[in-house]
Amino acid sequence: MHQLTDLPEWHALTQHYESTKNSHMRTLFAQNQNRFQQFSIEINDILFDYCRNRVTEHTLDLLIDLANASHLLAKREAMFAGNAINCTEKRAVLHTALRDSTKQPLMVNGQDIKALIRCTKDRIRQLVESVHHGEFKGITGKAITDIVNIGIGGSYLGPMVCEEALKDYAHPGLRCHYLSTVDKVPLLDLLAVINPETTLFIISSKTFTTIETLTNAKTIADWLIAKLGPAAIEKQFVAITAATQKALQFGINQDLIFPMWEWIGGRYSVWSAIGLPLALAIGVEHYQAFLNGAEMIDQHFKTAPLKQNIPVIMALLSIWYHNFYYAQGHAIAPYAHRLRHLIAYLQQADMESNGKAVRLNGEPINYLTSTIIFGQEGCNGQHAYHQLLHQGKQLIPTDVILIAKMAQSANDHQHHDVLISSGLSQAQALMQGKTYQEAKDELIAMNYPLQEAEYLAQHRVIPGNKPCNIFFIKELNPHNLGALIALYEHKIFVQGAIWDINSFDQWGVELGKQLLPNILAAMHNKGDKASLDSATLGLINHYQQIIGTRE
Ligand code: F6P
Repeated sequence: MHQLTDLPEWHALTQHYESTKNSHMRTLFAQNQNRFQQFSIEINDILFDYCRNRVTEHTLDLLIDLANASHLLAKREAMFAGNAINCTEKRAVLHTALRDSTKQPLMVNGQDIKALIRCTKDRIRQLVESVHHGEFKGITGKAITDIVNIGIGGSYLGPMVCEEALKDYAHPGLRCHYLSTVDKVPLLDLLAVINPETTLFIISSKTFTTIETLTNAKTIADWLIAKLGPAAIEKQFVAITAATQKALQFGINQDLIFPMWEWIGGRYSVWSAIGLPLALAIGVEHYQAFLNGAEMIDQHFKTAPLKQNIPVIMALLSIWYHNFYYAQGHAIAPYAHRLRHLIAYLQQADMESNGKAVRLNGEPINYLTSTIIFGQEGCNGQHAYHQLLHQGKQLIPTDVILIAKMAQSANDHQHHDVLISSGLSQAQALMQGKTYQEAKDELIAMNYPLQEAEYLAQHRVIPGNKPCNIFFIKELNPHNLGALIALYEHKIFVQGAIWDINSFDQWGVELGKQLLPNILAAMHNKGDKASLDSATLGLINHYQQIIGTRE
């Protein structure tokens, strides 16, 4: 099988890159006043404006040729149909089924998973309503005021990020908390503010083996038992897992165990029962709207022509910079405080999916995959890493996310207009930059002597020509949030399809999990110390010298 880089479509792009790499977006805009209309796509409340990119129609045509040569359409169909596209784990990848509201059955291993999904959704609805109506009681008969989600990775980020984003939709009187890292500090902080009698604990873990989650869950369970007795576990602990037996062994009531399925990847699981904390936080109607927003994008991704297909264009642009300009980073700049955690979510979604070095057939890859996703909420990022975006030597494409209407800004445009203008001015600066002549003219107008103006102007040159996509979203509501996340999910899928990698396993993460038990044992002077490398051993000894040897 040929490498991607052997394809004629790849060579055509390489040639195109060579002949266009020095053209500036200023010129592209001067030549075509219509770029904004031509290179933007609107779906419902989301405008995706990608006119500030180093592309012409011809570039897009060549990139689409590459997508076609990589069998994108067949791969897309295979995913939606439930084929086992996660080939190393022999699993289907069906987060899209979780938001598919049609009645059409979808068979996986002889089972209609749509029926399973409906049944689970009904159970979620019942639990959420009984908590909201004060019918669900803790062991001492009191209604629930606090939810604590104990989970990490995809079993944490989805609900946390979305619950924070949708704070304006929060059910009154219910607070949500999240424990993810195994560091005891946040756990102790949390225990200091919750009332054991009125708190519902959710253990979110597909595998029910994740050490951070189980360590936290055990400590919390011991705390609850000490406060309220052992029967409290059955009453106030919920589990979301694919390992029902393990949850039962933990002591969780069968009726409070919600299923996860092997055909849902952790980082794609917010649409499953893992989204329970979100459903509790915003209510089932809003949670359904969140799913509907994602479903709208699934339809768009399935049916829109590739050139009008937002996730496809997002992926192709990323591949253009990544594989031809060797851009390795991608900045995410949400100009909305409520979306500040989206960056962490996209880090897992993108890098855990596409940080791969072999093709589906196991051969090593000779091109870059994945992207270093980073960022900060606007405007904070402007006063931190944006300097590098503007004047650093690296090319780093940026996604600016703007929300036209925020609930809290409805009656006050003073702040919001500044916020939106900040995002727009960054996009303009990234695109236009500042020439030497412009910098010098500015300094002369400020009465600088010529020689000094010439010297300073060199430092003030900003090359511009830096790619920037803008997502202009009408308002931050559940539907639009679901849609935005699904756009990124499908972007990641398209990139993985073109790169010919398995975006749905994460063996790199597994290695650390595998090594940890022996290191932990060695710290306690047990286990197989001889198998540890001298560097690790050196630090274990150092740690033991500081804290003493623990049994
Ligand atoms: O980080 C690796 C990972 O396997 C993620 O894919 C997953 O979201 C996370 O760990 C948590 O796993 P689990 O839900 O099984 O506890």
